Amino acid sequence: MNHPVDHRLLAQATFQEEEDSNTSANPTFESVMAARLSRRGLLRGSVGTAATAVFGSFATAACGGGSDDPAPAATSTAVTTLGFGAVAKSLADSITVPAGYTASVLYRCGDPIAAGVTAAKNDGTDTSFDKRAGDCHDGIEYFGLNTAGTGPDASNSERGLLGMNHEYQNNLFLHANGPTANPRPAAEVDKEVAVHGLSIVEVKRTGTAISYVQDSAFNRRITAATTMTLSGPATGDALMKTKYSIDGSTTRGTQNNCGTGTTPWGTLLTCEENWIGYFTRAATDDTARGGSTARSVVSLKRYGLSAGAASRYGWETGGTADLYARWNASQSGTSTDGTDDYRHITNTFGWVVEIDPYNPTSTIKKRTAMGRFAHEAAAYLTPVVGKPLAFYMGDDSRGEYIFKFVTDAVWSAADAVPADRVATGDKYLDKGKLYAAKFNVDGTGEWLLLDLGAAAVKGYATYAFANQADVLVNARLAADALGATKMDRPEWSTVNPATDDIYFTLTNNANRVLTGTAYPVVNAANPRAYNDTKGASTAQKGNVNGHIIRMAEDNRDPAAVTFKWDVYLFGAESTAAAAINLSGLTADQDFSSPDGMRFMKSTGLAWIETDDGAYTDVTNCMLLAAVAGTRGDGGKVTVNNTLDATALAVDTWMGKKPTADTLKRFLVGPSQCEITGICETPDGKALFINIQHPGEDTAAASLADPAKFGSHWPDGGTARPRSATVVITKNDGGRIGT
Ligand code: FEO
Ligand code: CA
Ligand code: CA
Ligand code: CA
Repeated sequence: MNHPVDHRLLAQATFQEEEDSNTSANPTFESVMAARLSRRGLLRGSVGTAATAVFGSFATAACGGGSDDPAPAATSTAVTTLGFGAVAKSLADSITVPAGYTASVLYRCGDPIAAGVTAAKNDGTDTSFDKRAGDCHDGIEYFGLNTAGTGPDASNSERGLLGMNHEYQNNLFLHANGPTANPRPAAEVDKEVAVHGLSIVEVKRTGTAISYVQDSAFNRRITAATTMTLSGPATGDALMKTKYSIDGSTTRGTQNNCGTGTTPWGTLLTCEENWIGYFTRAATDDTARGGSTARSVVSLKRYGLSAGAASRYGWETGGTADLYARWNASQSGTSTDGTDDYRHITNTFGWVVEIDPYNPTSTIKKRTAMGRFAHEAAAYLTPVVGKPLAFYMGDDSRGEYIFKFVTDAVWSAADAVPADRVATGDKYLDKGKLYAAKFNVDGTGEWLLLDLGAAAVKGYATYAFANQADVLVNARLAADALGATKMDRPEWSTVNPATDDIYFTLTNNANRVLTGTAYPVVNAANPRAYNDTKGASTAQKGNVNGHIIRMAEDNRDPAAVTFKWDVYLFGAESTAAAAINLSGLTADQDFSSPDGMRFMKSTGLAWIETDDGAYTDVTNCMLLAAVAGTRGDGGKVTVNNTLDATALAVDTWMGKKPTADTLKRFLVGPSQCEITGICETPDGKALFINIQHPGEDTAAASLADPAKFGSHWPDGGTARPRSATVVITKNDGGRIGT
């Protein structure tokens, strides 16, 4: 979803989906004098013998055997120089890739994924989206299938399953004449609910061409109406009870799933991001709940749903049936426990959701131990036998936090190819510790435990937590209480398998300022706030272009409560002042608003995707490839900020600047799209990405005139634009990026 840069200053037609509700008073500025950063040694011991036993067939990177000084992965195939010519910035309504590469459209919104379903007309009349690709493709993962098609073979590049999110909808093009205003016709709501969720779809390679298999028995659509189970500590809690599930054990649907992740046991993690916007609340609802200080009111506001807020698509107006009523989160019933209405419905969203992609009838579980917020993605640290697993997750709203979940269970090599993937998920993901990150000025950081026993949590004046389930449901409030660091919109997380450095894209933050109390002021880990101009005169402020932060757990220990950090890259226009273009990006490298990011196991390369609205006067969104360094390979930098009439210098820690060989633009997408989601075949010879919402800025009044569409990609001519998965191959059959 496109994120306009400055909601305070621009009247944007685009829906503001990332809400903005962190008004907590925890520290946002720390004194800028930093102690000398203690550098972790780059040279490590030899690779431990446990490494080969750790992974089974689900990972190819090695890991260390020693708990105190684990070795870097010994990937003999690691790439050290990017082997392609950089692609120029572009405003063309097409995909550009380097010479020697081919980008092919694989799976478009509406494409049929069941036998007998006709090709989509793409004129707004298509139905049966439970048997077609959904809209707004986002995070995507590849799961290898064995040749016989009887189960997993994570190393197979010839046959596999793609699991992908359908984040939201380009609803102008979804209906023949655009969407009807409230009250919404039930048929339109039903279609919209069905285009949300996920696809599981089989893909196969024939020669060098990859296609999807329309009639595969593995194909599955999961929608915003699919029944799923609540799992972990919040299951059955008073906060989870609804008219649909009076014991608080289930809910219907997953929506606004943005980033994805995988697990070491071969399942898909899908992350619920801007789910709150799908709900409405009556103007009188605060009063019904006991007034503005009532606990449920404090909670709802902290997650961005004020009384009187309209829902994004008006799904609650589709009819009187329960399927529509559930989008109204008002306290309308007379019960004391909420089992006669949907006052608690929003508590059943905002989770990491686990899906076994290999079983189309598998139970889908929302993993409540991992905390509730606007989840972007989930990435795990290299598993080590006998140690817990750590998953890293961002909360993508302005001024929100970075989180870590550490499993109670320790990793067992036998779980790499388990007999029961859902039960293995129960083992690791239903019990553990949840932490929020605090970044210190000296380049160190702390993981703050979200625990009811913590004095700051137990004694928090703003909200009285009832129990640990409440702490997980209201993870934002608990992180507020603990004083976590307000970040510039944490998007994707990814782990470099060679170093175990953890990367988070911080896409941008229009609310980052230099002074005052109304918005978060700059800090060492979010050190920039500046002015930029889009087009001739549109003013943009704050951290306009975003940055990528990098963290390293002390001793590479997943359970560490301390870490070190630096800023890997600062997004900027290549022509920007040095105080903004701190990473020294050239015209072949410059980017804005990093969002998707993933290290590829086949090559060790990092791939960075943008979802930008700030630099789109010059270029469409893009994909870059990088040879990343190591946390601490740069040093201390002073950022000389100027924002409006104010100047403020802030010290930060920055990685080594990229060279022409270590960061290059690889792809530019069509008009008004976001580049998102990325995965590869295990051999590294096919790269899958998603093109989301091409033409999203098309005005409703232009629907009758295809010449005025914002894009016609991918079908061209006068076609309506549609989101699609693209597969990229190298013409010589080699690995992508090498
Ligand atoms: Fe859906 Fe945070 O991007
Ligand atoms: Ca600009
Ligand atoms: Ca995203
Ligand atoms: Ca985004």
